[in-house]
Amino acid sequence: MTSLDDLPIRADLRGEKPYGAPQLDVPYALNTNENPYPPSERLVKALGAAVMDVAGSLNRYPDRDAVALRGDLAAFLNRESLDGAPPGAALTARQVWAANGSNEIIQQILQAFGGSGRSALGFEPSYSMHQAITRVSGTRWIDAHRAEDFGLEPERAVAAIKEHRPDVVFLTSPNNPTGTALPLEAIEAALDAAPGMVVVDEAYGEFRRAGTPSALSLLPGRPRLIVTRTMSKAFAMAGTRLGYLAADPAVLDALLLVRLPYHLSSVTQAVARTAVAFGDELLGTVGALRRERDDLVAWLRAEGLTVADSDANFVLFGTFPDRRRVWEALLERGVLIREVGPPEWLRVSVGTPDEMAAFRTALKESL
Ligand SMILES: Cc1ncc(COP(=O)(O)O)c(C=O)c1O
Repeated sequence: MTSLDDLPIRADLRGEKPYGAPQLDVPYALNTNENPYPPSERLVKALGAAVMDVAGSLNRYPDRDAVALRGDLAAFLNRESLDGAPPGAALTARQVWAANGSNEIIQQILQAFGGSGRSALGFEPSYSMHQAITRVSGTRWIDAHRAEDFGLEPERAVAAIKEHRPDVVFLTSPNNPTGTALPLEAIEAALDAAPGMVVVDEAYGEFRRAGTPSALSLLPGRPRLIVTRTMSKAFAMAGTRLGYLAADPAVLDALLLVRLPYHLSSVTQAVARTAVAFGDELLGTVGALRRERDDLVAWLRAEGLTVADSDANFVLFGTFPDRRRVWEALLERGVLIREVGPPEWLRVSVGTPDEMAAFRTALKESL
């Protein structure tokens, strides 16, 4: 049988493992940070109608630039205000770009601003796909590090950026897998020090605690800043595959050079527009998930565990000399969480009250 080694694959891909959390059929899947609440019946009907609407013209290519969807997303960002503060200057479709998940957004950013002879830097532990997409795009990856408490002070960020002078810097806030949000000062300091683009990955931005501002407020006058978002998490639309970014219009001009023509299908655009129209309903679960998260953090601490502060819809906890044993014991009880991040820690996504009760019971039995 032919194996991968027999094929003339790129040398830098030899020995690499495909990305992927296990997709197991378990009663309690708390491993990929999805929103546990499915769409309402009303939304399911609206989504069906939206797909019906475009079905009759699927012989035609979609709007290549997804202009209507981008306008909807810009209006949504302008409305977003979790703690009373507006996100910054009003955004328009010229400053918002969309793709198949924020992973594709990140890929397009690296295709435009990374590549051969260029580098991208991230602060670990963080989202492993930043590194993986960087490598696949032919860009050199540079590992920098967060502090012991997973925070990133401005001085630490600036020192790493000045030392390596990367073309792209990734700042994840709230960070995956630690849940840590960054103060705006750290992002501003990174922008001042960076010679290239600074990407603030806010995949979990909607879950941040009150008083934690979004980097969107920094966009005016900063053309090297890109803020990425997704509909996969708070927006409860992971199956739609829709990520987006806000940035200076010149950044969009750069991305137009690398994106594949017609990258967003008519069905995706129609479904995403419907979801944005139901934004208040979809994001209506965020408050409950944030409370559930805070209760979970308090409970884990009361159980004597070490827990990272979380501004996201997951919690990193530990520390376990043998985390695999705990992960397996949970799985035997039907609870799938994620073995990710620093070696002695585990990450659990925040689910419904029932899912959290099952997790608590299973964890108590597993410790
Ligand atoms: C920090 C971060 N960024 C981006 C993504 C990618 O999300 P998607 O491609 O579903 O938008 C994830 C998914 O887990 C993530 O954790």
